[in-house]
Amino acid sequence: MNAIQFNPFSPEAQKDPYPQYKALREAAPVYHSDLLDLWVLSRYEDVSFVLKDDRFSADRRKATNQLVAQARKMQEEGPFAQANTMLSADPPEHTRLRGLVSKAFTPRRIEEMRPRIQEIVDGLLGDLNGETEFDLIEELSYPLPVIVIAEMLGIPAEDRADFKRWSDDLVATLGGPNTPPDALERAMKSGTEMADYFQGVIAERRKEPKDDLLSAMIAAEERGDVLNEQELLATCMLLLAAGNETTTNLIGNGMLALLRNEDQLDKLLGDPSLMESAVEEMLRYDGPVQATARIADADVEIDGHEIKQGQMLFVLLAAANRDPAAFPDPETFDITREDNNHVAFGNGLHFCLGAPLARIEAQVAFRSLFKRFGKPRLAGDGVEWNANFILRGPKHLQVAFEPK
Ligand code: HEM
Repeated sequence: MNAIQFNPFSPEAQKDPYPQYKALREAAPVYHSDLLDLWVLSRYEDVSFVLKDDRFSADRRKATNQLVAQARKMQEEGPFAQANTMLSADPPEHTRLRGLVSKAFTPRRIEEMRPRIQEIVDGLLGDLNGETEFDLIEELSYPLPVIVIAEMLGIPAEDRADFKRWSDDLVATLGGPNTPPDALERAMKSGTEMADYFQGVIAERRKEPKDDLLSAMIAAEERGDVLNEQELLATCMLLLAAGNETTTNLIGNGMLALLRNEDQLDKLLGDPSLMESAVEEMLRYDGPVQATARIADADVEIDGHEIKQGQMLFVLLAAANRDPAAFPDPETFDITREDNNHVAFGNGLHFCLGAPLARIEAQVAFRSLFKRFGKPRLAGDGVEWNANFILRGPKHLQVAFEPK
């Protein structure tokens, strides 16, 4: 048994995890990894089932297997330990935590951000002073989401650098069970600094509310039974951590897919009305969040395998997104794809709260880049990927544009 070796941390998988996903889907779609001591799901149907069925919990503390004890410890003692966040809560706690933010984070409110996002993108591109070769990550996709969420929350511009550092340290611990101890230490330190910082800002907004997301969350808190101070703090930290590297990677992975599929790039340049479906295809083809986890809250059978209560399941969103049973010709990057019901933002109760924001940021970023600079090509030598397997994206992406 286990002729398949699933190792997402190998250098080959880091460069291109999709051959491993394909092998898993075909030979062992419900696979027990002895290496990681958990179940790995790679088929669209199984992934969607687990994300939507309430016998699978998002609360990592319920895991019983030894090798994932670190994940449990992280939740109990890690940088988010001040309070549980919606990401790892089940109903009714999840309903209450998510309800509070979704009141302040409605799709309409997000759509209203579009002109401001455009200004921020124009500002970042303007800072290039006509330069036609640059690192897309450094100049655009890395700074953009942090400026947007910091502004939404109402964080002063001069504090943004701290903000980004804290967020990077926190997400560095999401790399899986082999998170290095020094990364954990840094995350704890940054978590404490960030918590102190937010406590100060929350106190200020209580005294003097402004027209920002933080004040809206405080108002929602004060209207009723909802969030206490610690939960408010943990939610701010979650919004920051969940929205930054993910959006950076959407723009990075998306640009790379376009550069490696020139016919699609030309198609998009020729017809900008394809932008929305192009971004959906970027999410499907090489999603920024490769996997999430659930814990079985009861014994459940999946495809003839008995998953025991307390066992962890690794839900491979990116493998599901290339399942031929759900997507015709799944290995092809096709920006005109129809019925693209990808699971890059998850599915079910925990479906990404920031999806409308991430979509707008990516659409505005690509539109503005192409309008200002024209057709890009890959410059520099090769692509260096971030070490984090779960949050997949290039560390740098050197692009060059023909001077117009
Ligand atoms: C392309 C960018 C993004 C991707 C691919 C992404 C992906 C995801 C995924 C897969 C989940 C579900 C996790 C699970 O079920 O365990 C999720 C949840 C979440 N995301 Fe995103 N995300 C992105 C951007 C954002 C942004 C910009 C924000 C906010 C500023 C955000 C906030 C959240 C929150 C709060 C949750 C938890 C929802 C819940 O547990 O109910 N995300 N995201």
